Amino acid sequence: MRRLFVASVVATGLAGVLAHSHGNGNTQPRRRKTMGFGPELPHAVFSTGDVTPVMSFMSSETDPKEVAAQFAAQLTSNARSPGSSFYVRDDSYTDKNSGITHVYIRQLLYGVEVADGDINVNVKDGRVLSYGDSFYRGDIVEPLEVDVHADHCSELESELQYRFDRMRQESLNDDQYVLTGGRKTNVMGDLPFLLEWNCRHVYTPYAMMEEGNFEEADFSTDPSAAIVQFMIAATPDEDLSEALIDNAQDFISNMQVTPVASLQGDGRVSHQSTVDNVPGAVSPVKVRMAFVQVPHGESTAVELVWKLEVEMEDNWYEAAVTNKAPHRIVSVIDWASDSPMPLAPVPKDPEDRPGATYNVFAWGINDPAEGNRTLEKENFDSLASPVGWHSLPVVNDPNSVAGSKDKTAFVNTTTTWGNNVFAHENWEGQNSWQNNYRPDAGASLVFDFKYNPKVTEKSDALDEAKKYINATVTQLFYTSNLVHDLYYRYGFDEVSGNFQQHNFGRGGKENDAVIANAQDGSGFNNANFMTPPDGQNGRCRMYLWNTAIPYRDGDLEAGIVIHELSHGLSTRLTGGPANSGCLGWGESGGMGEGWGDFLATTIRSSKTYSDYPMGAWAANRPTGIRNFVYSLNDTVNPSTYKTLDKPGYWGVHAIGEVWAEILWVVSNRLIAKHGFSESLFPPTPDADGNVPEGDFYRPAQVTVFGEKKPLVPKHGNSLVVQLVLDGMKLQPCRPSFFDARDAIIAADKALTGGENYCDLWLGFSERGLGPDARVDGRTPWGGGVRTDDFDAPSACQPEKAPKPTPGDGDDDDDDEPEDWFF
Ligand SMILES: *[C@@H]1O[C@H](CO)[C@@H](O)[C@H](O)[C@H]1NC(C)=O
Ligand SMILES: *[C@@H]1O[C@H](CO)[C@@H](O)[C@H](O)[C@H]1NC(C)=O
Ligand SMILES: *[C@@H]1O[C@H](CO)[C@@H](O)[C@H](O)[C@H]1NC(C)=O
Ligand SMILES: *[C@@H]1O[C@H](CO)[C@@H](O)[C@H](O)[C@H]1NC(C)=O
Repeated sequence: MRRLFVASVVATGLAGVLAHSHGNGNTQPRRRKTMGFGPELPHAVFSTGDVTPVMSFMSSETDPKEVAAQFAAQLTSNARSPGSSFYVRDDSYTDKNSGITHVYIRQLLYGVEVADGDINVNVKDGRVLSYGDSFYRGDIVEPLEVDVHADHCSELESELQYRFDRMRQESLNDDQYVLTGGRKTNVMGDLPFLLEWNCRHVYTPYAMMEEGNFEEADFSTDPSAAIVQFMIAATPDEDLSEALIDNAQDFISNMQVTPVASLQGDGRVSHQSTVDNVPGAVSPVKVRMAFVQVPHGESTAVELVWKLEVEMEDNWYEAAVTNKAPHRIVSVIDWASDSPMPLAPVPKDPEDRPGATYNVFAWGINDPAEGNRTLEKENFDSLASPVGWHSLPVVNDPNSVAGSKDKTAFVNTTTTWGNNVFAHENWEGQNSWQNNYRPDAGASLVFDFKYNPKVTEKSDALDEAKKYINATVTQLFYTSNLVHDLYYRYGFDEVSGNFQQHNFGRGGKENDAVIANAQDGSGFNNANFMTPPDGQNGRCRMYLWNTAIPYRDGDLEAGIVIHELSHGLSTRLTGGPANSGCLGWGESGGMGEGWGDFLATTIRSSKTYSDYPMGAWAANRPTGIRNFVYSLNDTVNPSTYKTLDKPGYWGVHAIGEVWAEILWVVSNRLIAKHGFSESLFPPTPDADGNVPEGDFYRPAQVTVFGEKKPLVPKHGNSLVVQLVLDGMKLQPCRPSFFDARDAIIAADKALTGGENYCDLWLGFSERGLGPDARVDGRTPWGGGVRTDDFDAPSACQPEKAPKPTPGDGDDDDDDEPEDWFF
């Protein structure tokens, strides 16, 4: 009861502040309500060190899944919870290049899934290279009264108080602004929003309890009340929220629960339900019963929850709500993120079809300030897009009339509609997309449309932007397909969960091309991406930016598109294709943002070094939308690991900016050592599907295990992209900065035998992420107290970087206000 009181008092006290930062005219982007929090698991580990040779009886012939299962059995044998078992998830896969099998294992307690009990095992040639483990080890299986949420909210409250006090001390008004995440916010930054959105209504409102409809129950078999509780907190519509509180029972009676039992690939029967007529949801809500872990002393306890998958207009939530009334939201992840080999036989020879041509800002031109449009060919990668960008099988085409059921019949399109991407306008800002307008180039497939926006009155700026919709959808389609092809060649393929309607018999789940909305009417000055698990379409929404007249169109800024599509990449690669819940909050969620910035910056960078901002053109601000431009100069960009402790660094974008900066520093060390490749695209495979080395790859210097030598990108910029993607596959679900760093170093070991070990460590430690870096008291908001370590491991010391260490491990926070305000 205390917690509700405090939360509402703080929220009321900030009403003026809230009003200010919302109503700041046209430069204020629309805020999408999004929630993300959950318990930290103190016992979770990621180990890349020498894994015990327990597997000596295994040989390179042994099925890697068997190796992983044996390994997991050993790992969990000494501290086995009663009723604990596990299964190997069927989205496990073998990486074609590295030969590493990524095996995902999920814990069960008495046959019920532990939703965050994950073991990921990376296996090659019968040996375990590394693993992550967050299995529940305790012996309590009774649902506990653990007030995990109150902790999260009180963290936020005290941070808010701290800022409020400081604002007073510095005699600042709440209409004085700092730049955070590309927008002016008052000195409170995102905290009022976090508090409002994450901590309000997370318990059953007392009004509902008093209705008598939600008495304490020991165990519930009907998820309806828990769903209503979640929707009260999740809906951005205050009226709906109030209506749900007042008339919960009416809504519940109207909801329809349909149990669905399905046989899984591993022989388990999974019990799930779909719930129709959920207010605020745009599709039936999927529900299953599960356990989740909550902190309990040094370890964890389990709670019985309803796991919900709720698709809404602007969010796609995966949430855990306690089974028992009063229903509490234990964790919630929004699959939507803002920002901002051998060839399988291919049914049709794409050579037969004339390639398309597009009038676009060519690949490498980040935005309209960097160059002019040119006519570019449909230079699809024959490995990644075997039938090009404008063909897909009838059976995988959502718009094909079900005339033909012939799997080999391909539809050829003359619009921005293909196997990887469906691009179109979405001025309405709604969820429907199939029949939205998209340009049609006719039989010639020449997508040559005008882009000539004029200066108008502000009131006409939107209509003026709509005039070049043909050009902007064409650009979005072109950039998105190239990103698909590029990431494919570094290993984001069908088995690892990429986005394609048809998978050419190469594994993975199908029917999940990216739905790409240009000039989406649901917002301004932003962009977002929703990543459901493999087999469901990703959704990219690009917005106009009203930062200038004529308006600037985010679709034309490649960096923003790349950032968004990279959410799909990192979410599908981390923790396996079927688990979209691994980058939900705190450091993990922040890195989800950071990878996008890093990859966008790497793609635009050229041989001659330069610093780069993010989103500078769209935001009409030379320094872009982050706090700092990406730079090797620590005066220009002073971010270190410890920067995460600063008040402005609670949101995922600010955390991501630090991660991206660290990767930028690491990346440039590799470029200094290995040189720079003008193109990040590997050579075209020959007719047999073999990939020639060209000037792009070099044979591995060291064969790590067995005979298979992976292809190693020769240059620093291509190598770092490979290591970053390989690292995503190796790292555990819910990685910390340390886990992600260790995974990149482990990826280098697997790929090159570790020849860049010291270069990588020197890069990470240059920005405080050396081996002795520490965090104490991590919270779901990215909070905690961090200690930088600027020293690489002793093996790398002789060539220790000649860096002036900025206040080695200095824990003092008080030196930051000057650079933080304004
Ligand atoms: C699609 O194009 C291919 C190659 O030109 C052609 O063989 C095929 O008949 C076309 N399919 C349809 C449905 O027109
Ligand atoms: C685009 O072309 C025009 C005319 O040739 C030229 O003046 C301008 O500098 C070009 N813009 C960029 C960004 O290269
Ligand atoms: C888009 O292109 C189509 C086909 O060329 C054309 O008919 C239409 O007028 C164009 N739309 C706009 C807004 O220019
Ligand atoms: C780093 O940036 C600062 C500020 O722009 C500049 O004065 C300094 O010369 C730069 N240092 C290097 C090594 O370029």
